[in-house]
Amino acid sequence: MVKRHDEALTVEYDRPGGAEVLELRPRPLTPPGRGEVTVEVITTGISHIDGFIRSGREETWSDDPWPRRSGSDFAGIVVASGDGAARFRRGAEVIGHVRAGAHAEYVTVSEGALVARPRGVTWETAGGLYLAGATALDTVDELRVGPDDVVVISAAAGGVGSIEAQIARHRGATVIGTCGDRNFDYLRQLGIKPVRYGEGIADRIRAAAGRPVTAMVDNFGQDGRDLADELGVPPARYRSSEDRRQTELGLLDDDPAAVARGTRLLEEVVRLAERRAFTVLVSGFYPLAAVAEAYEDLARLHARGKVILGTRPVTTVRSLKARDVFEAAR
Ligand SMILES: NC(=O)c1ccc[n+]([C@@H]2O[C@H](COP(=O)([O-])OP(=O)(O)OC[C@H]3O[C@@H](n4cnc5c(N)ncnc54)[C@H](OP(=O)(O)O)[C@@H]3O)[C@@H](O)[C@H]2O)c1
Repeated sequence: MVKRHDEALTVEYDRPGGAEVLELRPRPLTPPGRGEVTVEVITTGISHIDGFIRSGREETWSDDPWPRRSGSDFAGIVVASGDGAARFRRGAEVIGHVRAGAHAEYVTVSEGALVARPRGVTWETAGGLYLAGATALDTVDELRVGPDDVVVISAAAGGVGSIEAQIARHRGATVIGTCGDRNFDYLRQLGIKPVRYGEGIADRIRAAAGRPVTAMVDNFGQDGRDLADELGVPPARYRSSEDRRQTELGLLDDDPAAVARGTRLLEEVVRLAERRAFTVLVSGFYPLAAVAEAYEDLARLHARGKVILGTRPVTTVRSLKARDVFEAAR
């Protein structure tokens, strides 16, 4: 049983809307049921699709009862186990996923939604690994990216794109990543060829590639099928923003078979992270109570890596980010 705590601060909302509808409320902690564990959340990621579901732009789950909860990725410490849940002992450090409700001090999930956190995967990174990592891995796997490929990945410095691009590099592909000028150095450090998005992009990609492009992933929803056609990418080797939406909805599905599949992908993502096949930058780290501010940061569409919430921040003093200085000076 959970000791000392009988309620947990939990992010909830009562109506569709922007991040301003989110409220941090004390909620009773119920003991885990059969096969479930309760996890004290240390870090938890935020994702665009959470915001789309909240606002109603994404209509899947629009019949869910109110109040609704937020957040699907988390990392934390097991504090209680229900009957039949024996995989993780109390005190085990885990990374997990849930349809909604990760933006909280505690979350109760099936133990089948958890994998062990290796020491080499930091808490800050671990809490944002599930949705972005599994989407990236599933996409690279589906496209069967390999050493003969030249792959274009849009928004390659973002939460999903940065993991996708690094896994594609790890599989031996030549990777071209679209980004703004501010991310050229970052992508180059990862061995990814940066190309500025916008007018004339096809010519810039051809120049950077030096040989035919064989696959393309449009994360951003701007450089889509037309660009892929122009570059001669076969339809079977192109993934659109709509494909990505379907992938993410599948990863959020709480049907037991979908949860098991999501956990298998998460296991592989964590293994790749532990082996440093990819690293994830933390673009912004906010206390749980600043969840609305974190979403506003994400909505600016210039995250480099993931935006993460922490339940135990050491300070709430905001630091000025280099990117804010750079952009203010433009
Ligand atoms: N189809 C769907 O259902 C679905 C689901 C989730 C997300 N999305 C969209 O996919 C995008 C990326 O997802 P994410 O989770 O990786 O988000 P993210 O972390 O917020 O991505 C931010 C990145 O997007 C880049 N970016 C900004 N404007 C761009 C443009 N015009 N073309 C290409 N890249 C651009 C930024 O690079 P610079 O800072 O260098 O500009 C930044 O690194 C978001 O726009 C999101 O709304 C779509």
